[in-house]
Amino acid sequence: MSFTFNFDVQLPTKCQQQENQPEDGKQDSEPVPGHTITTQAELLKAAVEHFLPATPHSLLNNVVSETITIGTLPPINFLNESVFEQTANERDDNEKIFSRTAVQGSDLISGVYEGGLKVWECTYDLLELLERDGETFAEKTVLDLGCGAGLLGILALKRGASQVHFQDYNSTVIEQLTLPNTLLNCVVEKEEKGRKGKKPGKQQNKDEIIIKEEENRREEGKSELKNKQKKDEAENGRPAKRHALDSSQHPNLSRCRFFSGDWTTFLERILKEDPSPKYDIIFTSETIYNKSYYSALHNTLHRLLAPDGIVYLATKTHYFGVGGGLHLFEQFVVDKGVFDMDKLWVVDHGLQRHVVAMHFKTKDKY
Ligand SMILES: C[S@@+](CC[C@H](N)C(=O)[O-])C[C@H]1O[C@@H](n2cnc3c(N)ncnc32)[C@H](O)[C@@H]1O
Repeated sequence: MSFTFNFDVQLPTKCQQQENQPEDGKQDSEPVPGHTITTQAELLKAAVEHFLPATPHSLLNNVVSETITIGTLPPINFLNESVFEQTANERDDNEKIFSRTAVQGSDLISGVYEGGLKVWECTYDLLELLERDGETFAEKTVLDLGCGAGLLGILALKRGASQVHFQDYNSTVIEQLTLPNTLLNCVVEKEEKGRKGKKPGKQQNKDEIIIKEEENRREEGKSELKNKQKKDEAENGRPAKRHALDSSQHPNLSRCRFFSGDWTTFLERILKEDPSPKYDIIFTSETIYNKSYYSALHNTLHRLLAPDGIVYLATKTHYFGVGGGLHLFEQFVVDKGVFDMDKLWVVDHGLQRHVVAMHFKTKDKY
């Protein structure tokens, strides 16, 4: 898997804001996407919460999924990367990140697109480490910070975390990748298990079959929904309102929340809801490539980690061209004096990679 950075693009003084207006039941209304907000004299990408649509299967139109199984970990389903890339031009892309990355031939455009449309290799390292060390998630609150495809958060969900929050810089990533991946692991898998239970012996583990069935059901669902909407409209004399997904039908989903926006506005948003929210586990994989983001990242970890919580940070030693990497971040953390860092794992083949744990120094526990 190779990644390309675009070094010509400077960090913009005006970060690209979400151009998409919220659709009914899809996003919240505060702050309003499309408006620039100012924080600490910088213009930042507003934090937005994303909700599942009432008809979640609509997010899985024409998708092809694959499954990764690492040792004893539960299998994790996710959208096949090459098919996803090939079908990019068919997708909603209010941020224009599909077109911009294609034109610029880049996997990362600072301040515009932060790389979340691909699964980066340190995510797999961290999954392997979690398998090796047997982290348990039962009853824990988890944040997948800079989640991209969301595999780490999905694992926590499948392993019994009480809450999983997914955050990515780009709304397109959350809507086009993180949400569908979560659905593949909750809704589709649950239905799949139900069907298998009903028809023992009929193994349907081929993704194409699943997708075909999903398409059929979606088509049926669409016309059912249209008929119901028409009926509601006729009865009430006004257009039917879209409702958010009934998450009581999908207990795993009811434990998830999804956010886009940069770390500073995300943090503000979470603190506004609850001034002392705490996550037992924070995952952050391949997020320390740009040292101009260290302050926002460190602050987010500092304010959101539970006193005895742990941050799992997966990273390359160095991100050539972008400038960041483990040693620079380590120095930043040492200078701040808030966290201790323990090196859990070094992967030495190819470009050196690491998994590191961060804990509060005792005096800094909130
Ligand atoms: C290289 S991608 C890694 C995605 C995923 N964690 C993985 O390992 O596959 C870096 C992620 O960090 C997040 N990120 C980077 N800088 C950010 C910032 N300033 N504010 C918010 N998120 C940021 C983005 O969401 C992006 O998806």
